Amino acid sequence: MSEKKKRETFSSGFAVFFATLGSAVGLGNIWKVPYLTGAKGGGAFLLIYVLCVALVGIPIMVCEFYIGRKSRKNAVGAFEELKAAKGWKSIGFIGVVSAFLIMFFYSCVAGWVYSYVFKAIKGDFVGVTSATSSAKFASTLVGPMPPLIWQFIVLIVVSIILIAGVKNGIERITKTLMPVLFILILICDITALTLPGASQGLKFLFHVDFSQINGSVILTALGLSFFKLSLGMGIMITYGSYFTQNNNMIATSVRVALSDSLVSILAGIAIFPAVFSFGMKPSEGAGLLFKTIPLVFSKMPFGNILLVAFFLLTAIAATTAMISNVQVPVAYFTEEKGMGKKTAVLLTTGIMMSIGILATLSADSSSVLGNIHILGQKGFFESFDYLSSNILLPVGGLLTAIFIGYFVKREDFKLELSNQGTLNNASIINVLYVFIKFITPILLIIVFLNSIGIIKL
Ligand code: PFF
Repeated sequence: MSEKKKRETFSSGFAVFFATLGSAVGLGNIWKVPYLTGAKGGGAFLLIYVLCVALVGIPIMVCEFYIGRKSRKNAVGAFEELKAAKGWKSIGFIGVVSAFLIMFFYSCVAGWVYSYVFKAIKGDFVGVTSATSSAKFASTLVGPMPPLIWQFIVLIVVSIILIAGVKNGIERITKTLMPVLFILILICDITALTLPGASQGLKFLFHVDFSQINGSVILTALGLSFFKLSLGMGIMITYGSYFTQNNNMIATSVRVALSDSLVSILAGIAIFPAVFSFGMKPSEGAGLLFKTIPLVFSKMPFGNILLVAFFLLTAIAATTAMISNVQVPVAYFTEEKGMGKKTAVLLTTGIMMSIGILATLSADSSSVLGNIHILGQKGFFESFDYLSSNILLPVGGLLTAIFIGYFVKREDFKLELSNQGTLNNASIINVLYVFIKFITPILLIIVFLNSIGIIKL
């Protein structure tokens, strides 16, 4: 039997959906979308973000699923299996570099979340006010030792899960816990909406002021859509390689993108009313979630217990997202460099820890390395984020769209996406194909040319 036939697949469409969502839903929804929406102008940013998800994110996700399921290989081996020229492997390579850059800062923020679970258990947020909440966050990041220790714990947890091979068990747990997180966010929404002045928060989140839209807003929203849906780094190629042969991959992409965006918007509805009600600024930056959420929970019955649950579930969501990320370099080291799994995991997380220190020590201007700038005005933390989300992931996505649009036979693509003609979706595939061949790459190129100053949006 060939290796291709032996490869196991997810047990059902339900399993496919939750596994993919496990990679997409994470700190992006609860921490990054709200904080960037706050910093980049509210409703206008959110609108551009949603458009990026629809016009760029969904088509790229379908391309990645196609490459994965057709080849039944990971991102590194898939292009070879599809008989593509050697150069296409660079998508896998971009993925490996992006995985590292993302984890340098993601593990730091996950560390803050882990530490908040324990702070909430200790009762640190009982009777919290906006001043004490902000002070708590400031002390969480300044360190230098506590945030480094938390980041270290995060990476150890991820390593243990990967080495012990209990990833599948974790995915099963996620399936149950993800709906619980969703319900908790809904409870936060209801509480937040009853706060005095809540409507100002809603107006900020949903009112579109077109004058706020500029090139930097569009580039950030585009980068965020890649980061959010874990695109441009080969993760969805690997997931696609485990899909069942009868999975409707277009429907899966749309469902994942919709569910993921819904979680982000609901997180925004929990956070922005609190921002205005407690006299904070939407542009608080990376601390927005941490400063506002304890205040929202303090207004609920059983608020402290629910706050513990909220941070615990967020920590779990962040951990499953990180597991999918770390697997990219691990697959590269084991499959291309012949390393054993344990060595590959330890090497990967070891590098993430060593350089991740720079992110943690530069997370705030008052941090030890807070005043060192490497990319223009950006410190290490922001630079790792900018380089991965705004440059490498969209470049990986652009190459993926070009590969499918210009180097894969249209007939092959149609056959695979219609499950060998068994799905009645020819017109949807045709529309999607126009996006992949023309609209998505052109949009990506325009945003890039704008970001390097060649054209002005
Ligand atoms: N999609 C995750 C989130 O929004 O939190 C972040 C992420 C995970 C990005 C895995 C990239 C990745 F490979």
